[in-house]
Amino acid sequence: MRRFIAIRAAVFFACLIPFLRLAFDAVTDNLGANPIEAITRFTGVWTLIFLLITLGVTPLRKTTGWYWLIKLRRMLGLFAFFYACLHFATYIVLDQFFAAEEILKDIAKRPYVTVGFVSFLLLIPLAITSTSTMIRRLGKHWQKLHRIVYPIAIGGVVHFLWLVKADIRRPSVYAGVLAVLLGYRLFAYLQARVGAREARRGVLVSSR
Ligand code: HEM
Repeated sequence: MRRFIAIRAAVFFACLIPFLRLAFDAVTDNLGANPIEAITRFTGVWTLIFLLITLGVTPLRKTTGWYWLIKLRRMLGLFAFFYACLHFATYIVLDQFFAAEEILKDIAKRPYVTVGFVSFLLLIPLAITSTSTMIRRLGKHWQKLHRIVYPIAIGGVVHFLWLVKADIRRPSVYAGVLAVLLGYRLFAYLQARVGAREARRGVLVSSR
């Protein structure tokens, strides 16, 4: 138990490192020629990284047998939301200076902003329902609701692919990682279905 608390604290501080680094670079005026663009890009990438790390918890838990990893998933998901909020706030406050009309026009007209915005909106119910009380209250619906993290991550990758103009190498790396995670999920789902069908057949044969 004490060891797990230490691991959780270490992971928490590790998740804060990108934020601390950004704050340090901001305070020391080290964000380059275009600080707003630098902050937007940095927070966008870390949102995507945390989404992918969160999605990687279950495959890693199942392949390694480290069942305690599941207890870190909520914190990792909330860090994805934290970086998404910083990313969105940078866009609203620093990039657009709260210009509501411009923001709405941007969301409607630029497909990559539309996709990013929808992904961000979908993250909100996941963050709100991440508490133990909500997990208990929603019961089996909780798991169904939280499956939208897959379309959210797909939205994040599409957002990235759409905003880069020519060189798609960086977004392709994230798309590749996501494809592996989705492939694993599909494989596990098909395996569970085959297992359930065989179990049913076994029951039918033994009851004859
Ligand atoms: C889950 C939600 C989101 C994810 C995962 C995400 C991810 C990203 C990523 C990976 C980048 C590129 C970083 C780079 O070039 O290094 C980016 C850039 C950007 N994102 Fe997002 N984003 C999300 C939501 C949003 C929202 C809600 C908005 C605004 C409404 C937004 C606006 C932007 C803008 C303006 C850029 C910079 C484009 C440029 O460099 O010209 N994003 N985002």
